[in-house]
Amino acid sequence: MNKNIAILAGDGIGPEVTAEAVKALNAVAETFGHQFKYAESLIGAAAIDATGNPFPEATEESCKSADAILFGAIGDPKYDNDPNAKVRPEQGLLKMRKNLGLFANVRPVSSYDALLPISPLKEHIIKGTDFVVFRELTGGIYFGEPRGRSEDGNTAFDSCVYSKTEIERISHLAFKAAENRRKKLTLVDKANVLATSRLWRETVKEISSQYPKVELDFMFVDNAAMKIIQNPKDFDVVLTENMFGDIITDEASVISGSLGLLPSASLGTKSSLFEPIHGSYPQAAGKGIANPLGAILSAAMLLEYAFELKEESQIIKDAVANSLKAGFATEDIQKENPKNTKEVGDFVVKEIKKLVTVSA
Ligand code: IPM
Ligand code: MN
Repeated sequence: MNKNIAILAGDGIGPEVTAEAVKALNAVAETFGHQFKYAESLIGAAAIDATGNPFPEATEESCKSADAILFGAIGDPKYDNDPNAKVRPEQGLLKMRKNLGLFANVRPVSSYDALLPISPLKEHIIKGTDFVVFRELTGGIYFGEPRGRSEDGNTAFDSCVYSKTEIERISHLAFKAAENRRKKLTLVDKANVLATSRLWRETVKEISSQYPKVELDFMFVDNAAMKIIQNPKDFDVVLTENMFGDIITDEASVISGSLGLLPSASLGTKSSLFEPIHGSYPQAAGKGIANPLGAILSAAMLLEYAFELKEESQIIKDAVANSLKAGFATEDIQKENPKNTKEVGDFVVKEIKKLVTVSA
């Protein structure tokens, strides 16, 4: 298979972890006989420094002409601490999601047996967790208008806006995913307070008649935040709006063992993008301590979702599980004798090659 992949490494630890994900993709390409070509471009603070724009046109073009996009992370403290900054790296990420139409963010959450003992949560509660969050990504309070400040500057406002169409398109994806899983879908909202949430409930209920095999239930987001930690095995597919999905997936990462482990896919009608859910972690940048597994697992999602290479994707996931089993992990997971970013990436590459030989 011949494919073009746009690489947007971004800021902070983005370039380090993305480099390891590319190594994993190359290992797969080599062993399975695929050709992956990469085109790197700028995004975020790095793009602001070079061009003044956090999502330059050249980057957008590169994304649009690629078969899939692999993304690292965005964000730089020099902007976080400056409330007056006119351009922010995060604007690049939001603009990219919007302009590429990446409306569905898929975030799988599972526990790893090898990591159960290091979790702050009890083993019997998290062992066997396997759910997936469908987070709406191009609507809601992240994008709604009007937003800003009053003239005197003493009042600020953001608008949460959703159309029925926006809700419908991601709901269909979530119901289809549920049909192929354990056939349960939970809509997480705040319908006791928000008008947008009531539209979500109404719309999702309507759509559910097209998926009679899927059991649908509703949960308020505050309750869901509790239940995800109390009984994570109860969840199969979680469907939710943009900001609730942002928050509950950081929370859910505790179940897997580290924020550094969670991958994601952002799907649209024309493009798809794959990125770890963690941020740019600027304190760790350049130190070689960042966990590359979230990025590597994002590469696995890329193979599955963008190229339909299921076997190749599974090999990467197995290689990652083996590295955790072997205690070969960065310091967020392995407190004693941690490995560095590159060593973990090298181990995964070796495992990929081993696994392919075994299954051949
Ligand atoms: C994420 C991040 C982003 C978001 C930030 C960096 C804007 O937290 O991808 O989850 O809130 O969507
Ligand atoms: Mn987030």
